[in-house]
Amino acid sequence: MSERIKTPRGTFDVLGEAALARAELEKTAKAILERAGYERIETPTFEATALFARGVGESTDVVQKEMYSFDDGGGSSITLRPEGTAPVCRAYLEHGMHKLAQPVKLWYLGAFFRAERPQHGRYRQFWQVGAEAIGSDDPAVDAESIVLLAEILEALKVQARLRVSSLGTPGTRAEYKTELQAYLRAHEHDLSGEVRERIDLNPLRAFDADHAGTRQVMENAPRLLDRLTDEDREHFETVRALLDGAGLAYEVDPALVRGLDYYTRTVFEFTSDALGAQSGVGGGGRYDGLIEQIGGPHTPGMGWAAGVERMLLAAPPAPTAPPPLDLYVAYAKPEHRAAAFRLAADARRAGHAAQLELGGRSLKGQLKRANSAGARYVAILGDEGTALKDMESGEQQVIEPDTVMHHITHGT
Ligand code: HAM
Repeated sequence: MSERIKTPRGTFDVLGEAALARAELEKTAKAILERAGYERIETPTFEATALFARGVGESTDVVQKEMYSFDDGGGSSITLRPEGTAPVCRAYLEHGMHKLAQPVKLWYLGAFFRAERPQHGRYRQFWQVGAEAIGSDDPAVDAESIVLLAEILEALKVQARLRVSSLGTPGTRAEYKTELQAYLRAHEHDLSGEVRERIDLNPLRAFDADHAGTRQVMENAPRLLDRLTDEDREHFETVRALLDGAGLAYEVDPALVRGLDYYTRTVFEFTSDALGAQSGVGGGGRYDGLIEQIGGPHTPGMGWAAGVERMLLAAPPAPTAPPPLDLYVAYAKPEHRAAAFRLAADARRAGHAAQLELGGRSLKGQLKRANSAGARYVAILGDEGTALKDMESGEQQVIEPDTVMHHITHGT
């Protein structure tokens, strides 16, 4: 025998109970988002590499070291999507969605890819559910978007802590970045090597560091929240007032940094203690400059994404029921197979969940199988005609073959 081939590192199969739990999660997210007027969108699994380089930002970890990029076979570089916001913005532009009533509200669920070091809650292929509202800078968009993710997490019984902040506008951020860089340089000898190396490229990441010396330096670092323009401050205060009005508990975290570069104004993150090191369940924010970055006109946007695996890991195990089975069609001899086959197909066409014996079992084995599959009725086709067994009462009666459907529909 040759060596068995396994799943690639950081990927996994989804089956059995896990597949049922995912289907439930999808149903919950869909119901909550579609109630709020979000429509489903699916974008391709791979996109032009430039979309992420320009959209997500050259200086981010995602673009610098986590993208699966390759030649498309024709000399163009394509990338397995590491996130969904840039693709949704690309689709908004490509389909002229600015002509629709604004904001355009879209949601998605799909697989994303990042070449990260795999660990508990961190994979190389993972799923996200996400929601984007494009075309309005109303702070109510921000608040509603956050409330919707809170609602999904609550429905899934995920206990998560919400942190919010504002990153202001790119101009404010640029000035602040210079101020922060100067501060970090002044304390260079107390910082970790990694933070020191990134002072030029991404000084904000210093707020994220675990290194004790760095953390101490960051306690007194200048905060972007204290440097916001009046307009940005007002926007943030309105978002907060709306969240307060909705009764959503949150914490303002001036050190909240997100791993992607496109954020402006509001940013937020839900974290769960149930997850260990990878505590981020979901997060997002406003990205008023992203569409311009990828070649469109100035268009504000706001959204979030939440990790499907992380939500499932953080949620208490929910009992998952296997799908119901109305009818199991068993038969005594090979010559009854064609009639059994037809009966199962007819039952399904009539809207019943019906399965045919496919394992070549003895009649006794077939009844056992029907029982373990949770069948409500078993039809047994034999020389003496068709018998219908009610698996709840255990009663069995011989019936006219063409009345099976009538019996299982009316429960007689
Ligand atoms: P993100 O914070 O990079 O944001 O990812 C969102 C969520 O995806 C994370 O909170 C986490 O639950 C999950 N996630 C990320 N990487 C992994 C991984 N390697 N393994 C498992 N789960 C992971 C975004 O992607 C933005 N597009 C969110 C957004 C939408 N912002 C505005 N609109």
